[in-house]
Amino acid sequence: MALRKFVAGNWKMHGVSSDLDQVRAIADAARARPEVDVALCVPAVLIERAVRTAPGFAIGGQDVHPADKGAHTGSVSARMLVDAGAALTIVGHSERRDAHRESNEAVRAKAEMALGCGLDVILCVGESLEVREAGRAPAFVTEQLAASLPVTGTGSAALAIAYEPIWAIGTGKVASCDDIEDMHSALRQCLADRLGPTGDAVRLLYGGSVNPSNAGAIFATPYVDGALVGGASLKAADFVPIIDAAAGQG
Ligand code: PGA
Repeated sequence: MALRKFVAGNWKMHGVSSDLDQVRAIADAARARPEVDVALCVPAVLIERAVRTAPGFAIGGQDVHPADKGAHTGSVSARMLVDAGAALTIVGHSERRDAHRESNEAVRAKAEMALGCGLDVILCVGESLEVREAGRAPAFVTEQLAASLPVTGTGSAALAIAYEPIWAIGTGKVASCDDIEDMHSALRQCLADRLGPTGDAVRLLYGGSVNPSNAGAIFATPYVDGALVGGASLKAADFVPIIDAAAGQG
């Protein structure tokens, strides 16, 4: 089943008021490609202004707390993201799994909370270089997915999985299309095993040094339904050609 391509930008800890021009330019370009779903996940404090800048365009957060509310200094809840106008959120990015020691169980709880509040979710998985070189990447990543996968609210396009090999993030090193195909095929099988036919609607994104030059080949790879893009999503001049490539117009 061919799913609509989904291209999401992850601005990480980049973006202040003067960058809202980029949000506007990206949203305008996305409107011209209605056959592709496009979103930008920006810092939490920028969400409301980004939504006002580009009404109707999908703006997301980059993390949520698993609890609804409470004594969690510095954290942002899923309901707060919804209140700010977000349509989606990333959970389980390797930079959070690593720097904030997030477990698979915590990632699953975050995904369930976000889905329960009506947010779409991009759940990230991916192996380190050490795991890849040990030949354990497919087993590690499928186990990571199985343990992080929300058990509620997964029966629709609200959930996407981003396969992001850690060694490819922000390094300029991209996984080969053969490796991406192998991993995505294993993840597709894992979704089928866990979710049955409802897993068919879950999109599989690739992330890790996607740029305008390699996007076309990545989108043409079997089992790739889109991309999660970091550095190349910060400027419309880089991100728009990736959206165009997803539309088959690159
Ligand atoms: P990158 O980041 O495109 O800069 O490699 C991707 C990500 O971390 O989501």
